[in-house]
Amino acid sequence: MAKVKISPRPFSYPEGGASLHCGGVSLESLARRYGTPLYVYSADRIVERLRMFQRALAGRDHLVCYAVKANSALAILKLLAQEGAGFDIVSGGELERVLAAAPDAAGRVVFSGVGKTAAEIDLALKAGIMEFHAESEAELNLLAARARKLRVRARFALRVNPDVFAETHPYISTGLREHKFGIDIRSAVEIYRRAAGNRWLEAHGVSVHIGSQIRSALPFGAAIERVSKLVRQLQRAGIVIHTIDAGGGLGIDYHAGPFDAAARAAEYAAAIENALGGFAGRLLIEPGRFVVAQAGALLARVLYVKRNGRKTFVIVDAAMNDLIRPALYQAWHEIAPVRPRPGKTRMVDVVGPVCESGDFFARDRALGPVEPGDLVALLDAGAYGMAQSSNYNTRLRPAEVLVEGKRARLIRRRETMADLLAPEML
Ligand code: LLP
Repeated sequence: MAKVKISPRPFSYPEGGASLHCGGVSLESLARRYGTPLYVYSADRIVERLRMFQRALAGRDHLVCYAVKANSALAILKLLAQEGAGFDIVSGGELERVLAAAPDAAGRVVFSGVGKTAAEIDLALKAGIMEFHAESEAELNLLAARARKLRVRARFALRVNPDVFAETHPYISTGLREHKFGIDIRSAVEIYRRAAGNRWLEAHGVSVHIGSQIRSALPFGAAIERVSKLVRQLQRAGIVIHTIDAGGGLGIDYHAGPFDAAARAAEYAAAIENALGGFAGRLLIEPGRFVVAQAGALLARVLYVKRNGRKTFVIVDAAMNDLIRPALYQAWHEIAPVRPRPGKTRMVDVVGPVCESGDFFARDRALGPVEPGDLVALLDAGAYGMAQSSNYNTRLRPAEVLVEGKRARLIRRRETMADLLAPEML
């Protein structure tokens, strides 16, 4: 029987049970009710992960600003807001989502991103967000001009580039000087100084984000050490900094096996704490993946099993348009048969129906026997899954379900052809 090891995920084969559940809810029943492909998330697990950070940082003034880009479902934003989270956004669209899900949370929003437009800046100024993370002096100038126009002061933090190397996939590493992100930390003091002369700008914080899926705490500590040094330099120059934002990026273990999430969160918090060097202001962090990835799975149904030469292909009804991480980052997602069958495991490729060879979820993966009609769960898909989905091949995006204890509720219905065709003209 090929049951995949699934701890620390909320998915399990209940004691004596033959099929995979999310909390108290059977995935088979969800597939019957809502169809496949289907994203399934555990609300309890999401809250648990948020609280791990909150607990690890309880000794100091802090705010966990969940990175909306990881999973921007309104119901998830609302859930996190109710638990006291703030939000890290990177577009006007993400701000609209936060405002729709949790209107009271506007004052807990930080706005990151290298290319903010005037319209996005206006929206955020009017909403009264906590701070803008400016990534260039030109952006700061635009921010000042928009603030002046709206007669409000704009609180900002410079996102500095600390030139710290973090071991991760090159597409999601951001903290080196050669990356497009942030402002060279060596020129930051000068920029803060020039901004101090502008009455429409208020230096509020310093922010940093070195990359994503970083599993060691060390680079976070190294980056914060450099930021703390900058904050002390600014202090000497008479510029008071209220917040240090350490960014997001704490990684999870996508491979099966023991992974102590609470210990990792604690180790991460300690590394940052130690590097803050007596900073008395508020610490912000922007985790995305760590909060939602393991809470979610993409449920798919096997359509065909076919052999081509030496290879066996398991063709499922989900595809790269639903979950692009394997195609884009060579990412690994565990694949768990929902009702494991007895028999030998074999090496297979698990692929989707999209017309690209890159449309795969796993290559040469040992999988227990599966037959057409069986369900499989692609694990750890709660972050950057639905958020990066598309309609490629004119495929309708999946529905999403949130499991709360023993109850499951639809939080996004499956798209229809009418949804897809609505913006087009003949
Ligand atoms: N803050 C900023 C400024 C960011 O750019 C990001 C992610 C985060 C926070 C959240 O990082 P996290 O805690 O989720 O690692 N699509 C890729 C990940 C891209 C991350 C982009 N920035 C993936 O699927 O692996």
